[in-house]
Amino acid sequence: MHQRFGVEVFDIKLSNITADSGYSEIRDLFERYSLLLFREQKLDDGEHIALGKLFGPIEDRSRVTNNFDPVVTTVSNVAEDGQVIEENDLKVSYLKANQLWHTDSTFLSTPALANILTAKVVPSTGGETEFVSTRVAWKDLPSKLKVRIRDKVFCHRYLHSRQQISKSLAIVSLFMKHNDQFWRALWPNPCNGEEALYIASHIYAVQDMNVNDGSALVDRLIEFSTQSQYIHTHKWRVGDVLIWDERATMHRGRPWSYDEARILSSICVTARDVDGLDLVRSL
Ligand SMILES: [Fe+2]
Repeated sequence: MHQRFGVEVFDIKLSNITADSGYSEIRDLFERYSLLLFREQKLDDGEHIALGKLFGPIEDRSRVTNNFDPVVTTVSNVAEDGQVIEENDLKVSYLKANQLWHTDSTFLSTPALANILTAKVVPSTGGETEFVSTRVAWKDLPSKLKVRIRDKVFCHRYLHSRQQISKSLAIVSLFMKHNDQFWRALWPNPCNGEEALYIASHIYAVQDMNVNDGSALVDRLIEFSTQSQYIHTHKWRVGDVLIWDERATMHRGRPWSYDEARILSSICVTARDVDGLDLVRSL
């Protein structure tokens, strides 16, 4: 898909994939290329969740019960009554917050391994999702900067990225309930040893640096990683499924005309120590 990461996979029906048939090949591509595209899939919610479970436990953002029944999250500007939501609605601000470069769920105590996102309704133009490989960025980073970064710990807070979009979004309790999280700057892939910058718009500080120097450093890393030559832009078609490695990429949504509907379905899979989670923990 991009010269340096991401592959399109052909002749696969994702709803037929099981632990014994097809999963290990897909997982191998995931570890190697960080972003996978499968077209014309038309996954229903049950198939979507079943596919996610092959990668690991489905993320539960509510954390209210131990008997979590996984559900697919809708990334959408359409209300339950089928009407397109107005642009000044808080829900659209929430969608706009996804337009900052990030990787998902770094603000949770167990962050995500993967996101599996599929398109149900797409606008006539815009609404793309863009990706960069933070593995590629790390490889290309000037060596002096690498030395400065290698042992750093970044402080993540959900509220920090939401505040950048709107004050009203910043006071939504959903964004305030998460404790700050501290992750090492690099997430080494336990299968192949490849290291990737673990960065996101959720980072508000760097441990043991003053706030201004820390945020300047993080801004520099995000700017470096998201230069135009590193970006892959995915133009959605209905039925597309993207699976990406949250440990080795950043992504952002792109704007579209908000009077048009856009409905994507998403599930995140939670990372485990087998995915290198223990290697990125700061304590
Ligand atoms: Fe996201």
